[in-house]
Amino acid sequence: MKINSTTQMLQGAPWLLAHKSMLKTNKPHKISLYGQDYVMWKDKQESIQALPNICPHMGAMLSEGWCEVNSDGTSEVVCPFHALKFDKDGCTVLPGTDKKTLPQIRPLKLIIRDDFIWSYGDYKPVIHIPDILEKIADNYEFIGHTADTSIKTDLKSMLLNMHDYNHQNGTHRELFEITEVRFEKFTDNGHHSEAFYDAPTAPKTFWEKLKQPKQFLLPDLIKAHLENYFPSLVIFHGDSFFGKIAQCHLFVPESLTKTRTYILLFAKINNPLGKLLKKQFLEMSKTVVEQDADILNKIYPNSPQKIKLNNEVGMDWVKRNFDNWGESKSELKVNSEVNLKQ
Ligand code: FES
Ligand SMILES: [Fe+2]
Repeated sequence: MKINSTTQMLQGAPWLLAHKSMLKTNKPHKISLYGQDYVMWKDKQESIQALPNICPHMGAMLSEGWCEVNSDGTSEVVCPFHALKFDKDGCTVLPGTDKKTLPQIRPLKLIIRDDFIWSYGDYKPVIHIPDILEKIADNYEFIGHTADTSIKTDLKSMLLNMHDYNHQNGTHRELFEITEVRFEKFTDNGHHSEAFYDAPTAPKTFWEKLKQPKQFLLPDLIKAHLENYFPSLVIFHGDSFFGKIAQCHLFVPESLTKTRTYILLFAKINNPLGKLLKKQFLEMSKTVVEQDADILNKIYPNSPQKIKLNNEVGMDWVKRNFDNWGESKSELKVNSEVNLKQ
């Protein structure tokens, strides 16, 4: 396998760029993918557009501009430098004329599934978009998004961290105080896998929990079920006293050295107290990402691994899928998907 940007950023994989709730109506939003910046915006009808962020006039960042609403409710993005206005196709009207130009910049292809905004970044699809998020959205309440963070690390290091079942005691020790990880099983289905393990947490008295109320969210035994969709999604299915949660971790390769992650949190709340704790749950999820970001900034990338621990099977799965990326010659038939762009 050759090391190049195709294998390092897994071109041909689908990436979830955002959940619709992350975009404010008619407010430009900057997104990065594969070393390119884009401006994304949502109009009143919840239709989503994305253009390259660099203005074709003199290079200003369109995401720093604003949106103007047309009479039909659609909207266009306006450059903050000389106020040229671009529609969803990248066309503009030059001052002194009353006709639209041809497209000046090429829109990014988006695939919208319910509230989920996916993109292959204009590469040929190699794997399908998983439909698990729509299924979760149908059965769970959407609690919110949190911890949208750009981390100075490559995609592979980020994914290895997320599939490392031994790092709770180091990276997350203050939050969880896990006493041991009892690994149960790992099922490997190619680009999909599942891991099951139990992790008892250090016992806390009621008074200790009162001092740190988010401890009420943590059970004495974390029964972890991780469902992994290589490469862009890891779902932590968990049970707590107020109901079931599905904590969805997303990854986006912004460039060779920057990887974005964020969390979409869904829950089936069966306890009135649970309703009150939604904010705390989002905060706790945010702390998890901050701790991961912190350690990823403190490791030497690509250092040779001379020691192997038990239960590194998730990381082995990541490494194998990276190594085999692009080996398959068969092109995926997802025409109906890629043409679904709004
Ligand atoms: S740089 Fe955008 S309008 Fe001039
Ligand atoms: Fe972590």
